[in-house]
Amino acid sequence: MRILSGIQPSGQLHLGNWFGAIRQFVKLQEAGHECFYFIASYHALTSLRNASDLERATMHLACGYLALGIDPARSVFFVQSDVPQVTELCWVLNCVCPVGLMERGTSYKDKVARGLSPNMGLFGYPVLQAADIVIYDANLVPVGADQKQHIEMTRDLAEKLNREVGTEERPVLVVPEPYILEEVAVVPGIDGQKMSKSYDNTIEVFATPKETGKRVMQIVTDSTPLEAPKDPAKCNVFALLKLFATPEETAEIADRYRAGGYGYGHAKKRLAELINDRFADARARYAEYEARPDHVRDVLREGGRRAREVAEATMERVRGACGLMVNR
Ligand code: ADP
Ligand code: TRP
Repeated sequence: MRILSGIQPSGQLHLGNWFGAIRQFVKLQEAGHECFYFIASYHALTSLRNASDLERATMHLACGYLALGIDPARSVFFVQSDVPQVTELCWVLNCVCPVGLMERGTSYKDKVARGLSPNMGLFGYPVLQAADIVIYDANLVPVGADQKQHIEMTRDLAEKLNREVGTEERPVLVVPEPYILEEVAVVPGIDGQKMSKSYDNTIEVFATPKETGKRVMQIVTDSTPLEAPKDPAKCNVFALLKLFATPEETAEIADRYRAGGYGYGHAKKRLAELINDRFADARARYAEYEARPDHVRDVLREGGRRAREVAEATMERVRGACGLMVNR
């Protein structure tokens, strides 16, 4: 099974990225699948146009992926823009992509509603994402629930190109499936909305224990007094706690909520401890990678080389099927 996924370098990695995406990336790698994981630098350009910010975010994500367990000896790990073939395939897919399909994009509409400038890159973002996926012949794409529509669009575009330039016996592109785990499909942020860089409601993976504690204290709760019984199902702190605690501890804390006498402050303190424990090793590894940028660059260079080989093979197939004569 060929697995592929990417994350945009547009901010600090947060708990939503870990539970919704990277944790599955690592598990699929450990299960022995052929994995391709990348840093979506071209996608970040749709909303970020400051060279030093993009470079910094790219290095942060590279160190973060490695520290959280992406192993370049087992997975092809690279930066999207080191494989320019993907923009070539994006053009080919643009030529079969109905404008109406992009107009229905909920992520595009959200971004414009939030004030991002509606440029063609943002509008056609899902076409580039489709190219990312099909250029590596991926079968399965692990992502959070917010990306479901993009994977459906990828399937539509791949099927359309296959119909238009492929043959029944020799499809040009592999049609992928999404891989979305329901229990972590949408991790809530400190305000109870979906955790996202764009909502300023994240808890970062690579913060210090002190910063983590401070952020956890900012999680929004209602004003039920300490003594009163509380409903765990309605509490943002509990929603995050249950992602970190064992099933036994989760059940025990739920009982304490219902019994009363257990305050949100207690739950927050425990949550901060659990987060800091969970990421202590990864944070130490992150610091090591951050101190060796040349090593990280070497890892990315080698990943890019391996990715380009696969991408070029797909492009040869696509060029041939479309009649794009190659004269180099
Ligand atoms: P953000 O919304 O912060 O910009 P990205 O769009 O860069 O995050 O997401 C990268 C990956 O992490 C995607 O697979 C996405 O689905 C997943 N992800 C992001 N936020 C969450 C969340 N709150 N819950 C579950 N998965 C998430
Ligand atoms: N759009 C994804 C996100 O915002 C990032 C991404 C780009 C991606 N290309 C991809 C995810 C290909 C999976 C597969 O998180």
